[in-house]
Amino acid sequence: MNNVNGLGGLEGARIALAFSGGLDTSVIASWLQEEFGAEIVTVSGDLGQEKELRGITEKAYQLGAKAAYFIDLKKQFAEDFCFRALKAGALYEGVYPLATALGRPLLAKTLVEIARKEECTVVAHGCTGKGNDQVRFDAGVWALAPDLRVIAPVRHWPFKSREDEIAYCAERGIPVSATKANPYSIDENLWGTSIECGVLEDPTVAPPEDAYQRTVSPTAAPDKPESITITFDNGVPIALNEEKIGAVDLIRMLNHLAGEHGIGRLDMIENRLVGIKSREIYEAPGATLLHFAHTELERITLDKWTAHAKAKLSQDYAELVYNGLWFSPLRTALDAFVDATQTRVNGTVVVEMYKGNLRILSRTSPNSLYDKALASYTSEDTFDHAAGEGFSKIFSLPLRTLARTVEVVEREQEIA
Ligand code: ARG
Repeated sequence: MNNVNGLGGLEGARIALAFSGGLDTSVIASWLQEEFGAEIVTVSGDLGQEKELRGITEKAYQLGAKAAYFIDLKKQFAEDFCFRALKAGALYEGVYPLATALGRPLLAKTLVEIARKEECTVVAHGCTGKGNDQVRFDAGVWALAPDLRVIAPVRHWPFKSREDEIAYCAERGIPVSATKANPYSIDENLWGTSIECGVLEDPTVAPPEDAYQRTVSPTAAPDKPESITITFDNGVPIALNEEKIGAVDLIRMLNHLAGEHGIGRLDMIENRLVGIKSREIYEAPGATLLHFAHTELERITLDKWTAHAKAKLSQDYAELVYNGLWFSPLRTALDAFVDATQTRVNGTVVVEMYKGNLRILSRTSPNSLYDKALASYTSEDTFDHAAGEGFSKIFSLPLRTLARTVEVVEREQEIA
């Protein structure tokens, strides 16, 4: 009986493994069989990563998998995860559009579905013990299937470094060539790319150009600005330059168009769930542009109070997604709030892209609350100026009351 701490009792288990085809999950697939005589079923999801995914099931079978699944999750990911986060205005710590964090619960859900189908009692993932992703997988699986055992071999196994893992692969003839060269740890999907490790671990060092995977440097971007039109229906983007387009194609197109203008490069020190501050580079051209356009449309369509309340809940929403609580009643409740606000978020936004920057050119909506007659300083003005006096007087009443009290105290001190 092997008792690698935390992995006891796995002998002969049938395990559904979240499989990316990279170094860690390849080693896991092989090691679990070798160490515990486990049966491996691999589960790989297509979340729209640009990386070549063809051949991933063949690779799994080469590693000895009993079954290998490769599932197209792009549409579900775009519509049910990315666009929900977009409607909610979810940016973690005001910056990160949450690409990795949104992908994990969908992978966890898929893992559970395959585990059921294949009669696995254990699911495994390749996350480390110091990141957010372990929690997203664990919480995601347990929220849907509390009876399943979830293991993360990297938290317990004897390999101390990538070199150890590479040596393990070399001994067994497991191909790793592609993963060996890259100095960065990269997670990529339709909504964005997360890049860490290597020189990026030093927060005093600006990211070298080779850290970026899918955007052009703003300095190398076209000298001519380009404008783009996005149409929203109930807060969901449905057309690009006046042409209807599905969610996956839209995000993909925008990644390409905005990426060429150097849009969506983010360099962030973030607070991880486990308490560590970490430095991560993100590239999310499409998500950045869509959040920008969506917010601009909300500025003109949401009333002041709803807009202000929503901005606060956006932070809660982002934190919830970041913390792996996608399958929670709080998320359902926040979505209900968000959806109630989005019935007004209809219309068209024109955005200009230029050397890494976005500029709003125009916003139009059948639900616009902008009233020129109220806002205007011309003779068209219909605002009741005289009413301003009473409003202002009563609005400032607390300050006048306070100031009078201060006067009284000062006078009393003079007398004493
Ligand atoms: N920090 C990001 C998050 O927690 C990304 C994590 C994965 N990053 C990576 N480079 N592999 O969502």
